[in-house]
Amino acid sequence: MKKITRRRLLKRGAVAAAAATLPLSLVEISWGKGNAQNFTFAYISDSHLTHIKGTKFVRNFDKGLKKAVMECNFMSPKPDFVVYGGDLAQLGKKEELEHGLEIMSKLRHPVRWVIGEHDFYLDMGRFWEDKISKTTYSFDHKRVHFVVLNSILTYDSWIKRWKTPEERMANMARLDNPNGSPFMVGDRQIKWLKKDLARVSKDTPIVVMSHSPLYKIFKPWNFWTDDAEKVQAVLKPFNKVTVLHGHVHQILYNQIGNITFQAMMSTAWPWPYPLSYIKKPNQIPKITVFMNRADPFHERDATGWSILNLENGRVTNHYKLWENRDRILRYDEKLGYPVDTLYQNPANRIPPQEHY
Ligand SMILES: [Fe+2]
Ligand SMILES: [Fe+2]
Repeated sequence: MKKITRRRLLKRGAVAAAAATLPLSLVEISWGKGNAQNFTFAYISDSHLTHIKGTKFVRNFDKGLKKAVMECNFMSPKPDFVVYGGDLAQLGKKEELEHGLEIMSKLRHPVRWVIGEHDFYLDMGRFWEDKISKTTYSFDHKRVHFVVLNSILTYDSWIKRWKTPEERMANMARLDNPNGSPFMVGDRQIKWLKKDLARVSKDTPIVVMSHSPLYKIFKPWNFWTDDAEKVQAVLKPFNKVTVLHGHVHQILYNQIGNITFQAMMSTAWPWPYPLSYIKKPNQIPKITVFMNRADPFHERDATGWSILNLENGRVTNHYKLWENRDRILRYDEKLGYPVDTLYQNPANRIPPQEHY
């Protein structure tokens, strides 16, 4: 712990006095300078750009991604980078990925890429790795260690089962498919992760970004990573760990031991919560406050993107909803898990409509 000296105290007072006269966006920059770990980045995910034919694509999904890109470009303060969380394409087609790159090229910020199953299973990630990004990598940013994993791998026996790449892709793309196969990170990547983290001190904040959640929620929909516990075990020795993921297309958060999990919304459509849809066993996190919307079938009322603030090694998530109020999720140091700053209190929630 650093001792608070009179000089430092005076300096802090001067910063606070100056901050009182500055517009909010500049205040954040002033405070950020003092602590290298505080910064902002953005997260866009699950755009599912869908090729129809020739130069035609499903317009609604195009619009979602374009809107997120435009809003990110207007961010103040600017994000240090933007993460794309996977499922840029719907069926992994070259046309879809190229179209996605074209829209994403309008972003004025650097991009870090995470691959989703819809980007992968047509050509087993070849286009992605050639033209977009590696699928497994790490980087350090302002004293935070970021790790990107390809969490949507699966068993070789399942991959060999299909006669054509199109058949394989179609079967992985379906949500409620008895012929699907659970995701996994795989032993090779876990070995890589161990090696990567061996050089990182235990008090360095770690942010892992994967497409599927690195825990188990609901197997029939593949809200599931089969070897999640193995990955969690590698992350266990670290003091501050956050896993950010896409795939579930909804606001969802959880705490397992030392690991905080946060899901990102989609720019295309929301999935319902398995619990509200189907009465099969599932592990929807108890701390998650579901989408606060009167009508769960209102399609656009659960899409958007996120602004993430790194604050003292924890991620505060500003869910930017397009048809509803923002939701703000912040890690509560006393409770030891993330809470919605407004809706964690049941009295503030909108009672959902019932559909029969
Ligand atoms: Fe998706
Ligand atoms: Fe996905």
